[in-house]
Amino acid sequence: MVQAHTRIYGSGFVTGDNCVKNEALTRVCDTTDEWIRERSGIEQRYFVNEGTATSDLAVAAAKKALADAGWQASDVDYIVVATMTPDYYFPGVSSIVQAKLGLGNIPTLDIRQQCSGFVYGLQVSDALVRAGAGKKLLFIGAEIHSGFMPWSKHQWDVALGKSTDPVSQQDRDFATKFRHLTVLFGDAAGAVCIAPTDDPKRGILGFSLHTDGKDVESLYVPSAGFKYRPYFSEEHVREGRYVPVMDGRTVFKMAVTKMPESVNAVLAKCELKLDDVNLLIPHQANLRISEGVQKQLKLADDRIYNNIQKYGNTTAATIPIAYDECRKSGRIKKGDLIAFTGLGAGFHWGAALMRE
Ligand code: ACO
Repeated sequence: MVQAHTRIYGSGFVTGDNCVKNEALTRVCDTTDEWIRERSGIEQRYFVNEGTATSDLAVAAAKKALADAGWQASDVDYIVVATMTPDYYFPGVSSIVQAKLGLGNIPTLDIRQQCSGFVYGLQVSDALVRAGAGKKLLFIGAEIHSGFMPWSKHQWDVALGKSTDPVSQQDRDFATKFRHLTVLFGDAAGAVCIAPTDDPKRGILGFSLHTDGKDVESLYVPSAGFKYRPYFSEEHVREGRYVPVMDGRTVFKMAVTKMPESVNAVLAKCELKLDDVNLLIPHQANLRISEGVQKQLKLADDRIYNNIQKYGNTTAATIPIAYDECRKSGRIKKGDLIAFTGLGAGFHWGAALMRE
């Protein structure tokens, strides 16, 4: 049976165990707290301990969301996980999350739309529930970016405060090559519980999603692909080709243009106005990007939420983390109109509207 509406019944998030301030990164590569804050707004991020997998963070966030919704894990009949950093090249993490939560043979699905994973995954989740494929769906955005860091074991010990011995010049120089990217990311997961609602005044209202595959190499991971034989090699490791390549200026321009455009497009689709939006939660790519989006949309400071200062960019996890913080701090109230927007590698981008 097709349902008219779905809504979010609970949310929760977790971060990696180790809080790493900008200052710690200055001991790993040539960077400064000032440069990172000025260009990105980031003050700190969290990294997991070695051995913790994306599925572990996803499960921990899921348990918090389930408790918040008052659902038992056994109530869940569909799992959707958005991640670009799965535990293994394949399979995706959703089946691992299902097993770790101890669920039966319910269907699970992986979404790989990178930084727009939350808005894309929310559309898929909403559609699955409205189509009757799941009655209580768990949707998780989870990422472990630590594996991208081109750091030796000793550099990790230094970053995590476990050693004060200096890093070799060779290791420092190698890490410095990738510094414009590595300082931006952190490890975390956020989850939401989605189910039908009979309340016509609440729930997920609509989406405006887009893709443009022309500029893939503006933001991508060059190695570990089946374009190569073998798909991963020693040369790739030596050259650091497992670290994402990013043309920061292109990403910046795309983000400050496409995110506002898609917010306006979804509002038009739903016959609502920007003035109706109580809060915009943008993907936390960079505080300067969020400020650009805010400026384009002419939003006052209290109508946009940013928390990248505390967590860095956590890709598919940024929006559910921000949403959870806003719900639990009272920044979002029942009946508020919330807009979500994100843009990520692909490029994929879009916006969603929801009445809390
Ligand atoms: N610390 C110190 N100096 C640095 C660092 C660093 N971490 N990184 C780069 N620099 C230096 C460069 O070497 C360069 O020095 P030079 O002028 O002497 O040659 C200078 O800073 C400028 O470097 P650029 O790479 O040109 O840096 P830019 O000004 O473009 O800023 C940034 C980089 C912050 C990434 C910017 O391009 C940006 O905001 N891009 C948006 C993309 C983004 O934030 N993506 C997030 C992930 S993707 C997503 O979520 C969609």
